[in-house]
Amino acid sequence: MNLTDSHCHLDYPETDADALIKAAEEAGVSRMLTISVKLSDLSPVRIAERYPNVFASVGIHPEYAAEEERKTTFEALCLATNHPKVVGLGETGLDYHYNSNTKEEQKRLFRLHLKAAKATGLPVIIHTRDAEEDTLDILKSEAAPSLSGVLHCFSSEAFLAEEALKLGFYISASGIITFNKAEKLRQTFKNVPEDRLLIETDSPYLAPVPFRGRANEPAYVVKTAEKLAEIKGISVEKLAETTTRNFLTLFKKAV
Ligand code: NI
Repeated sequence: MNLTDSHCHLDYPETDADALIKAAEEAGVSRMLTISVKLSDLSPVRIAERYPNVFASVGIHPEYAAEEERKTTFEALCLATNHPKVVGLGETGLDYHYNSNTKEEQKRLFRLHLKAAKATGLPVIIHTRDAEEDTLDILKSEAAPSLSGVLHCFSSEAFLAEEALKLGFYISASGIITFNKAEKLRQTFKNVPEDRLLIETDSPYLAPVPFRGRANEPAYVVKTAEKLAEIKGISVEKLAETTTRNFLTLFKKAV
């Protein structure tokens, strides 16, 4: 199999990146994108430098908006992408579930990432939770032919997926689609065109069934792929091929 984990965090404490990358390769995961959450800590880029099949992003997670916003400039964001293994901007976006007290900082940083994405031509990796309306407003106001990206770990209302698809974005499925309660979300993914789908672990979080409760890792993206293939009514091999092709179409620098 030729799977791609389009979103993982290989630099988190307690994470043995070398062992996890090896286990992933053995499970058929031939490509990984390890995601930055702060501009002041680019250890994901250092990991990507050590492996030909691991790539990195640079950006600021909404959780860190308050502490990073003031010191982050458009120029600094663009400059950080100037590295052969940096293939995207993010993760950025809006999280009103955990961080509803920093909405203004989150929105300003989200816009800054979208502007940097347009200026550099790189795709943007978007985290959105309990913030459908504001996410869509900002995406629409910054929309441009040169702007593309992915709504990662998608778990929002279906209308956000539909509108983001119209704007040219991709939708990424995580282990959440394997959870018992996620019937509505599975229905949403049923309606996403095959050529706009990505898959991911978001490891070390959100381990898919049957690994729930354990630390997640890129090798487990196989379980999400199996579930998504079932939802789409295709073989897991075809799903792997399609989502890897989509990944390389969006993240052109990873080709
Ligand atoms: Ni993440």
